[in-house]
Amino acid sequence: MTDSTPSRRVLLIVGGGVAAYKALELTRLLRKAGVGVRPILTKAGAEFVTALSLSALAEDKVYSDLFSLTDEAEMGHIELSRSADLVVVAPATADLIAKAAHGLAGDLASTALLATDKPVLMAPAMNVRMWLHPATQRNIEILKTDGALFVGPDEGAMACGEFGPGRLAEPPAIFEAIMAALEGPAAKPLAGKHALVTAGPTFEPIDPVRGITNRSSGRQGYAIAGALARLGARVTLVSGPVALATPPGVDRVDVETARDMLAACQAALPADVGVFVAAVADWRIDEVFGTKLKKEKGGPPALTFVENPDILATLAASGPRRPKLVIGFAAETNDVEAHARAKLARKGCDWIIANDVTEPGVMGGDENAVLLISRDKTERWTRAAKDSVAHDLAQRIAESLS
Ligand code: CTP
Repeated sequence: MTDSTPSRRVLLIVGGGVAAYKALELTRLLRKAGVGVRPILTKAGAEFVTALSLSALAEDKVYSDLFSLTDEAEMGHIELSRSADLVVVAPATADLIAKAAHGLAGDLASTALLATDKPVLMAPAMNVRMWLHPATQRNIEILKTDGALFVGPDEGAMACGEFGPGRLAEPPAIFEAIMAALEGPAAKPLAGKHALVTAGPTFEPIDPVRGITNRSSGRQGYAIAGALARLGARVTLVSGPVALATPPGVDRVDVETARDMLAACQAALPADVGVFVAAVADWRIDEVFGTKLKKEKGGPPALTFVENPDILATLAASGPRRPKLVIGFAAETNDVEAHARAKLARKGCDWIIANDVTEPGVMGGDENAVLLISRDKTERWTRAAKDSVAHDLAQRIAESLS
């Protein structure tokens, strides 16, 4: 599959959780990229994936027992914990995270985490209540203070039937985080750059309890903010109301209305790049009612609208404060390229990322099929996961700013 003596190695600790199956795909991605994978499968992990699958994909022996004489004869657990350039825990269960935070060492995985002198990257996966529990959040803080890196968790539907943050990050995102951690400063081409990203919908109030919003999930914008941060940028993410976890290393400013979003963007300047992904409401209610509208008061209310500021166009025309690279998004249903190209000119941006929202699974889904339109050319990108589109775009931004 790849060279037999990889120059970069990870020690992959696979914890117990339904998401453990994604560790197999992660192993495949790493091997494909020439990264050596030495797996530790916990007892709980072995309830979900087999040592045989893991070993076949890793092309290496799977370690699982702290007290195995055979394992110890081949490689002692202390040596094992230091035999890689990076220790990756995926899925990192609440239990593994708690053990690592408190320095427990009752099994091979926790012992390796305590004995290692290498950087540690954790990809948490657990039920939403377990993730949000103060004990877990405290443990995460302890590990971050100790220097551990994190990728995810994502938000979404879970195997346990609940919904929220706690889902293991997708294998391509974990792979990217691993590559960034392995490559160190060379993989941080955006170090010293400031990126401004808008994401999510806006919420325009009608009265104290009602408002107008849209179905934007914020996923693509959040993925872009995360990808830019992984490449070393300082990222300010100005976000409308969404139910997503803030990507690691990203400064998030929460706003509701288009006008608040514009003000937050202007306050965040100067920036080297602005990526405007938010689905901003084009109109707001002229006069917001100060008290809740009552239906007895003679039929439905007549609402009058006024146009919202165009955040992208305003920032693109902000003279000396204009980010060097201004990128807009265009969701179109027909004549995608022509409409997007007209938008590029109208809004004064450098690139437009256009997508055809009639494609099944794009709106609110995990994938995107986009065109990158600049003043002089159009590129058609193959359909890919939103995380992968985000990574490719972040790479392109880095090339353009370098
Ligand atoms: N945008 C913005 N502020 C607005 C409206 C849009 O910053 N008030 C940005 C979006 O974040 C996106 C781009 O402009 O990057 C295109 O948004 P879109 O809604 O497609 O553009 P519109 O100008 O609303 O065009 P139309 O609805 O006519 O397609």
